Amino acid sequence: MTDRVPTRRIAFEFDAGRMPRHYSANDVLSSHAMSLASATFPEGEEFFVRSVRKVRDQIRDPDLLERVNGFIGQEVMHGRAHVSFNKALGRLGYPTRFIDRFVAFYLRLMERLLPKNVQLAITAALEHYTATFATVLLTTPEAREQFADPEIEALWVWHALEETEHKAVAFDVFREVCGNERMRVRVMKAVTFDIVIGAAMGLLISLAMDPSAWRLSKLRKSWRNLRDSPIASGDFAALLRDYNRLDFHPDDHDTTELVVEWRARLLEGGGYLASRVKGAA
Ligand SMILES: [Fe+2]
Ligand SMILES: [Fe+2]
Repeated sequence: MTDRVPTRRIAFEFDAGRMPRHYSANDVLSSHAMSLASATFPEGEEFFVRSVRKVRDQIRDPDLLERVNGFIGQEVMHGRAHVSFNKALGRLGYPTRFIDRFVAFYLRLMERLLPKNVQLAITAALEHYTATFATVLLTTPEAREQFADPEIEALWVWHALEETEHKAVAFDVFREVCGNERMRVRVMKAVTFDIVIGAAMGLLISLAMDPSAWRLSKLRKSWRNLRDSPIASGDFAALLRDYNRLDFHPDDHDTTELVVEWRARLLEGGGYLASRVKGAA
């Protein structure tokens, strides 16, 4: 179990002039997918924060309240860092601005249509996705090596570390204020459907705006890389699906050592961000 959820302030700087168009391992699909994910973060993470804030007055457990404050602080910082990355991606030609506006519109619509508990269940489900992707990034050297630029790698690794630190917060809030496990699982299934459709549409739009990607040989090679990557593995799908157990809890996937390891590697001693982190390391 990973209790501490510290808010760290870190400013990132990205130089689009030094980034190749397909900055992620010179791979078309990987670069577009990472850019698409990054474009959804600022608005997505604001939605997470709003969904938790709406029920904060119903939380009685003081430890959970403290973790909620850390969770909000971390997500706000992630949003800011990805705004900065998204600007660089926009200069490279990725439709980050368009994706950002679409996500904002879609999530505001959901907030108007859905009850607070369902919004919270959406956040808990998406946090399971981010935590599962984070585990892959933190445990797979090849997944990190795809970023040729150390600043880009640091952004994703720092984000992955903090997603792992706070992976149970929204879930625990949901349990405390609602606790309807069948509804939680139903919402996960709907969220998964939305992610598949949204990712497919977003990728098509992103690729359509990048003529340098329209080469069948490039796309075929990229597709093969994707098929061989850890996120296409059965293990990854099993980790995601585990959420559908009615007695599931995020801490069932023990990531305590992973958090200790990456705090030390990234934020302490000679770690890449050690000299730049403000707030608790
Ligand atoms: Fe985040
Ligand atoms: Fe998160």
